[in-house]
Amino acid sequence: MEMKKSPHYGTLTKTLRLALQWCLLLLIFTISALAQTPNYADALSKSLLYFEAQRSGRLPYNQRITWRDHSGLTDGLEQGVDLVGGYYDAGDHVKFGLPMAFTVTMLSWSVIEYGQQIAGAGELEHALEAIKWGTDYFIKAHTSPNVLWAEVGDGDTDHYCWQRPEDMTTSRQAYRVDENNPGSDLAGETAAAMAAASIVFKKSNPHYSHLLLHHAQQLFEFGDKYRGKYDASVGVVKSYYASVSGYMDELLWGALWLYKATDNIEYFKYVISKAHCFGGIGWAITEFSWDVKYAGVQIIAAKLLMEEKRKEHRHVLEKYQSKAEYYICSCLNKNNGSNNVDRTPGGLLHVRQWNNMQYVSSAAFLLSVYSDYLRHSNQKLNCHRGPVGPDELLRFAKAQVDYILGSNPMNLSYLVGYGPNYPKRVHHRGASIVSYRENKGFIGCTQGYDNWYSRLEPNPNVVVGALVGGPDCQDNFSDERGNYMQTEACTYNTAPLVGVFAKLNQLEDQLFQQNQNSPLIASY
Ligand SMILES: *[C@@H]1O[C@H](CO)[C@@H](O)[C@H](O)[C@H]1NC(C)=O
Ligand SMILES: *[C@@H]1O[C@H](CO)[C@@H](O)[C@H](O)[C@H]1NC(C)=O
Ligand SMILES: *[C@@H]1O[C@H](CO)[C@@H](O)[C@H](O)[C@H]1NC(C)=O
Repeated sequence: MEMKKSPHYGTLTKTLRLALQWCLLLLIFTISALAQTPNYADALSKSLLYFEAQRSGRLPYNQRITWRDHSGLTDGLEQGVDLVGGYYDAGDHVKFGLPMAFTVTMLSWSVIEYGQQIAGAGELEHALEAIKWGTDYFIKAHTSPNVLWAEVGDGDTDHYCWQRPEDMTTSRQAYRVDENNPGSDLAGETAAAMAAASIVFKKSNPHYSHLLLHHAQQLFEFGDKYRGKYDASVGVVKSYYASVSGYMDELLWGALWLYKATDNIEYFKYVISKAHCFGGIGWAITEFSWDVKYAGVQIIAAKLLMEEKRKEHRHVLEKYQSKAEYYICSCLNKNNGSNNVDRTPGGLLHVRQWNNMQYVSSAAFLLSVYSDYLRHSNQKLNCHRGPVGPDELLRFAKAQVDYILGSNPMNLSYLVGYGPNYPKRVHHRGASIVSYRENKGFIGCTQGYDNWYSRLEPNPNVVVGALVGGPDCQDNFSDERGNYMQTEACTYNTAPLVGVFAKLNQLEDQLFQQNQNSPLIASY
């Protein structure tokens, strides 16, 4: 901004000079205000780095998180199947299929809604890599039409040790669902992930996109035909990722993503005909998570209505929409009675004590996309406590994200590695132990607990971009490695933020340009 002295400055009239000074003040004010807003572009870049820290398998030459190395290279070997790759879900080394698939669905949805904004920030390649690292693994795990490998490793033996992934000595037993051991929730979510990813890769990699779609269709058929909860077939998952909401939400979710990916009316009819008996229009729910997909189904169905698609099924779509609105209004505290999500005194949505941030980041994403849908269709939302416009939805999503990034009573960014102040003792095996690349000396199962877990010092490696479980209902947070309810991060916490960061970054850019071009300053 070369607005310093002009040669004519000295000849200007007093009034004009005063006006110029005023403009200058305004400009300085604007710049300092902008300087205080979070750096969403930085947050976006960091959020994508996190997925590289969670990679299992053989790491590629362009791996940017260099404190990690190859791990899990014999996964599946005992069962005669190649299950190398995929993501560790959190701070341990089990590969859990259900949350991994949900992570990939949310990354893909982020790119579908905000691909342009992500590209604008120069991060599209990284986002695509994050998705492909997951879908490459799902292709391997789906070994025949009715067989899907659900998990590698088991929580109990894994949690017995505190080791770097590169040193792992725990069981790598793999578990599967098939015709005799069904898992409709897992199959439905993996179908959703692959269908959504097939949309992402449609232009840039059509062959891959087609392959993903093929798997998605088979998986959905498998899940629909052989009905059952996957945790009844894979018992070891029960104390970790039990499917509490059952499989009906995932079947609706899978069908809806397949409809979006194929435009095949049969998938749409499934969502309509099963709307009632699968709880799609019955459940009014105030959380959206790796387990409970209803709000996502309802919001996408509401979008179809807003776009005036499939008018012949208008009355069912309206019922979906009314539940979608219930979810959104509950986040905005605009439902009547007690049908709202609690908030901390600092204004953060509070659903549950353990890993509350997962619900915050998914809500921020859903509010952000719903705000876009309302804006595009020029509509408002009628909550019990009054009408709400798209700006209010987006403002609230932004407030949640800003809380995450440090505008909170602890003055702490819950996105690790962002800003000056963030959790330093994340409950994460790899991050809490000296990097394997620095020190290849084997660190045994309990040695990790003795020498690293119990240390008071910060972790030697920073899991940049991880969103930790977050504060309690009083905005209080204690940065201790053993406090896993608050200091553990999960891939599905960060995934929805990829889209929201991109959206907010674009908004800031627009604001900045508007300020630069405003007549007051431009005339200077
Ligand atoms: C909330 O609204 C519903 C529908 O209008 C109404 O039936 C119910 O009584 C209201 N509840 C409270 C607590 O106001
Ligand atoms: C956070 O920052 C505010 C404003 O700078 C300050 O008043 C407050 O004491 C800080 N809180 C903590 C927990 O550091
Ligand atoms: C917040 O946590 C700290 C550290 O555990 C504790 O000392 C403090 O009493 C807590 N404050 C509240 C309001 O719970």
